[in-house]
Amino acid sequence: MPNNKPAIGEDLSQKTTASLNGKNSLTITDNRTGKQYDVKIENETIRAMDLRQIKVRDDDFGLMTYDPAFMNTASCISRITYIDGDKGILRYRGYPIEQLAEKSNFLETAYLLIYGELPNKVQYEEWANNVMMHTLIHENVKKFVDGFHYDAHPMGMLISTVAALSTFYTDAKNISNPESRALQIYRLVGKMPTLAAFAFRHSVGRPYVYPDNDLSYAGNFLSMLFKMTELKYRINPVLEHALDVLFILHADHEQNCSTSAMRNIASSHVDPYSATAGAASALYGPLHGGANEAVLQMLDEIGSKSNIPAFVKAVKEGKGKLMGFGHRVYKNYDPRAKVIKKLADEVFEVTGRNPKLDIALELERIALEDDYFVKRKLYPNVDFYSGLIYQAMGFPVEMFPVLFAIGRTPGWVAQWEEMLLDSEQKIARPRQIYLGRDAREYTMMGKRPQEKKPKSEA
Ligand code: ACO
Repeated sequence: MPNNKPAIGEDLSQKTTASLNGKNSLTITDNRTGKQYDVKIENETIRAMDLRQIKVRDDDFGLMTYDPAFMNTASCISRITYIDGDKGILRYRGYPIEQLAEKSNFLETAYLLIYGELPNKVQYEEWANNVMMHTLIHENVKKFVDGFHYDAHPMGMLISTVAALSTFYTDAKNISNPESRALQIYRLVGKMPTLAAFAFRHSVGRPYVYPDNDLSYAGNFLSMLFKMTELKYRINPVLEHALDVLFILHADHEQNCSTSAMRNIASSHVDPYSATAGAASALYGPLHGGANEAVLQMLDEIGSKSNIPAFVKAVKEGKGKLMGFGHRVYKNYDPRAKVIKKLADEVFEVTGRNPKLDIALELERIALEDDYFVKRKLYPNVDFYSGLIYQAMGFPVEMFPVLFAIGRTPGWVAQWEEMLLDSEQKIARPRQIYLGRDAREYTMMGKRPQEKKPKSEA
């Protein structure tokens, strides 16, 4: 790590050493035994391990909490991203997403996420140079891309090739060495667009375009995607800016499915390429990175503004969902959707208006006035407009989660670094409630029931 960077992280365990005081505690009565316990409340949270003292007998395991899908469990202390879903607030390291989208650029925002502060000029130039110096990939990685079938999904290619990087950079397993970690971060942020662009070029049968480091991060990506026979790709500054802003909006979103996957996998101290491949796999799923594709399909199905009332009626009757609406955390307008809506106008001035935009705008207007959506606090999320922009820029829908993965990489590596420096973290290992069979004797095959189909236990 160069000397002029701010120190990453601090001892997070310091937060938890405050002494128990009467007001900031929870008194629990165990009605099985009549015993009372005081449990410390800190940051509006109790520690699950404090419940283990609650036992009926001395040799009991102790009380656990059951929380499928982690609906109410904090798995870490983090200082990276803040979300207030009720108020529609998203901040990276304290900076509102709206200000970063307007004033920053993706590489600067990536630096902010990873190192905790906005860079000065020297720090920015050094960081940007280090990232752009690592955009090239080993020629053998290209052969992996060559090996994929012509219709392979680009996200599958990205996941496989980023995992393969761990075999090229064997130094990456030195995760306790700060210099080695810094190098892997440059490589990951630098190479993701190249892997993504090569996957895209392979799927359309075009020759690969090598990185051009005279260009910006987003500009170089556009060049690697769309350059044909011209010597230098001429970038449209509006599209370059739009892509950069979209990357900023996707750069982190605290402990979402893919980021939790990154932390979980990396908690075994595996190298960051393997962990990033796992995080990208989580992102590939339609409940996470694939909703903007579903929005486009929905707008196609609706077909015209006159069909919207019938479509909304069907949604209210439980026949399908209004895709791009609703969010587990945001119970207000997703702040990213507001920025994207503005961006759409700029992009469509260059590309021509995506005809689906009129349907989307009318759909939003009707839904936001409808009691069903108002009562349930269903507002447009980041995916409602992003697919329209990507499509207008010439991206096929299969590339949507790939674009998301490029944007999210700084968030993944920032969370990885924070996890490694957190003295409270260990290998992730949830508990379970075992409701299966008690101990029983092994039965020889000839003595087992003779049903044809295997019996499943739910
Ligand atoms: N359209 C219609 N009704 C909806 C929608 C929707 N998009 N979303 C939620 N509801 C309804 C539910 O049916 C439920 O109604 P009920 O109380 O009458 O049963 C109520 O609103 C609460 O919904 P939940 O499913 O409990 O909300 P949850 O927080 O579990 O789900 C989710 C959030 C998955 C995002 C959901 O809103 C959804 O499926 N939206 C559409 C898909 C989508 O746009 N996903 C992208 C999310 S953003 C991202 O991942 C980057």
